[in-house]
Amino acid sequence: MKVALSLPYTAMPVLQLILAVQLVLLACGGQASDNVKRCGLRYESPTEAKALSRLEPLTNISFTVDETDGKESYTYQFQVCGDAGNMEGAGLVQIDKAGKKNKIVIGRYTVTQAIGGSDWVMLIYRNGSNYDGHCSKEMRKAIVMISCNRDVEMGQLEVKLEDREKQSDCFYLFELDSSAVCPVLPSKLSAGSIILIIGLVLLSVYLIGGFLYQRLIVGAKGVEQFPNYFFWTHVGNLAADGCNLVCRTRGPEDEPPTYSGVSVEPAEDPEERDDHLLPM
Ligand SMILES: *[C@@H]1O[C@H](CO)[C@@H](O)[C@H](O)[C@H]1NC(C)=O
Ligand SMILES: *[C@@H]1O[C@H](CO)[C@@H](O)[C@H](O)[C@H]1NC(C)=O
Repeated sequence: MKVALSLPYTAMPVLQLILAVQLVLLACGGQASDNVKRCGLRYESPTEAKALSRLEPLTNISFTVDETDGKESYTYQFQVCGDAGNMEGAGLVQIDKAGKKNKIVIGRYTVTQAIGGSDWVMLIYRNGSNYDGHCSKEMRKAIVMISCNRDVEMGQLEVKLEDREKQSDCFYLFELDSSAVCPVLPSKLSAGSIILIIGLVLLSVYLIGGFLYQRLIVGAKGVEQFPNYFFWTHVGNLAADGCNLVCRTRGPEDEPPTYSGVSVEPAEDPEERDDHLLPM
């Protein structure tokens, strides 16, 4: 059995594979913006930092909503870990539409709490401006409930309620829909198709690398440029040889002569046999 494997050529696909893997890594690990780091967590916690990082796609966007309650009319502005209404440190502000009062800070992103569920993230901004009369004149607090909605990248901010008719722990509640907080869907690629893709990539690396090697370094022409041309054109013969070794139970020399039974019988002379039929 002759197997024509050119040895120095085996180094080429290895180099190409390393290059391909590096390209894939480069393509996948590109995004590295961390705008959510501008939020100051009230208590340093890896769980809260993780919940907060899910909101990264919503940073640098100003959400606005108008709210009319009786004769009072307000505009609320909200940003994820950014200055809302151009007020430093304020993540959620209330602007009186009549324009008489200053902007009121509902919550600061410098005092943030983030709670993450499977398909929602609750963002709490504390240390807002103090209430004038309600809630024991404590600082205002904003709760923004961000829920998964795969149909909208960033939905419309909504005012849900202002809970202030109590002694303490008052809050403003807002809601927002976004696909950013949706759980990641499992990859549609099965293990089998990933193996198939890897196989195809390796095959094309082998063919292209082999072709270039044969053409540029060996200087082959025509079909000889096909990598390991001799090996692949003889692969059928090699397989047959291998099968001969493995599958056959008896060598050709052991085989009994075919139709031996017929030939062993002493053949009668046909002319002799027909003799009695002839009229004497
Ligand atoms: C978001 O805004 C900050 C400053 O306001 C800026 O440094 C950053 O590049 C912006 N990021 C994106 C993704 O626009
Ligand atoms: C927030 O308010 C608390 C008091 O309730 C205070 O101790 C804390 O320093 C404030 N944090 C900031 C960043 O203003």
